[in-house]
Amino acid sequence: MTTELPQESRKLGRPLLSPGARVFVAGHRGLVGSALARRLTADGHEVVTRGRDELDLRDAAATGRFLRDVRPDAVVLAAAKVGGIMANSTWPVQFLEDNLRIQLSVIAGAHAAGTPRLLFLGSSCIYPRRAPQPIREDSLLTGPLEPTNEAYALAKIAGIVQTQSYRRQYGASYISAMPTNLYGPGDNFDLETSHVLPALIRRFHEARRERAPEVTLWGSGSPRREFLHVDDLAAACVRLLEAYDGDEPVNIGCGVDLTIRELAATVREVTGYQGRIAWDASKPDGTPRKLLDVSRLTSLGFTPRIPLRDGIARTYAWWLGQPAARG
Ligand SMILES: NC(=O)c1ccc[n+]([C@@H]2O[C@H](COP(=O)([O-])OP(=O)(O)OC[C@H]3O[C@@H](n4cnc5c(N)ncnc54)[C@H](OP(=O)(O)O)[C@@H]3O)[C@@H](O)[C@H]2O)c1
Repeated sequence: MTTELPQESRKLGRPLLSPGARVFVAGHRGLVGSALARRLTADGHEVVTRGRDELDLRDAAATGRFLRDVRPDAVVLAAAKVGGIMANSTWPVQFLEDNLRIQLSVIAGAHAAGTPRLLFLGSSCIYPRRAPQPIREDSLLTGPLEPTNEAYALAKIAGIVQTQSYRRQYGASYISAMPTNLYGPGDNFDLETSHVLPALIRRFHEARRERAPEVTLWGSGSPRREFLHVDDLAAACVRLLEAYDGDEPVNIGCGVDLTIRELAATVREVTGYQGRIAWDASKPDGTPRKLLDVSRLTSLGFTPRIPLRDGIARTYAWWLGQPAARG
């Protein structure tokens, strides 16, 4: 792992992320991008954003022009075509091509515009399906991927290799991070496309409202998963921008997992639902365990601050303020 400062910064003794830096957050309306924009603004940085309606990041020429005009000190790439198993298996072409195109536009455009610092966000699905748990960063490219999101994972792996290549060939201070499952304000609560945690919040909330005696959940409840509040993720990303300058990606998680059954019990309690939970074991469970090894992140001095129960309560409170919750 390279941890040295890039030549230019070392020569000039410049910090990796200067106070009051101008940072372009790509994907600022998403779960991750919005949390990053909040955090960077709170830390006194100048956050630059463009909605997809103003700038389609798949358009390399327009993205390049934008980056040359704005000349950011740093770019955080949190824009991506993202979705669950169903969306990934229905539109693998878009998951592959949109993400490759966004990454090519933004990473190559940043380099061409002389952007000194860039953080690329990948996902834990880049690791092999049977990677030993907890999953270390050096598991990358050691085995076959999960077939249901292979197109997405391969695009993300290409993004990691792209950041590494700019570092190796040009000495660019570009890094990548691999977050675990995230949740928080701004999450997707659409039951067709949402991840497990917002789906549980919505299911229990609606069951309470309808006084349903029972909620049936998919699978056995035994798989173990890790969850990180998106505000903790944003804090970890800022820490990396300030302090990490290495070739290898850095896992971002809390280092602790729990069973889906335990998660469901916590969400039920937070939402105040008093009925029973039934498990439909005829439905698939997915991988038995998915936990990231976060020792590299921990060695950089980062620890998450938001306990899961508090984070779920905050997320539920946020969602109750959304029109969909009242529907
Ligand atoms: N959510 C998680 O649990 C999780 C876990 C691990 C890693 N990550 C990673 O974090 C990153 C962000 O994920 P997220 O959950 O924040 O996703 P998200 O909520 O869907 O946000 C993605 C953002 O990207 C924007 N975008 C997509 N295509 C674009 C385009 N062609 N031009 C301009 N903007 C475009 C979207 O704009 P619109 O708002 O206009 O659609 C949206 O604001 C992804 O790389 C993902 O792999 C997420």
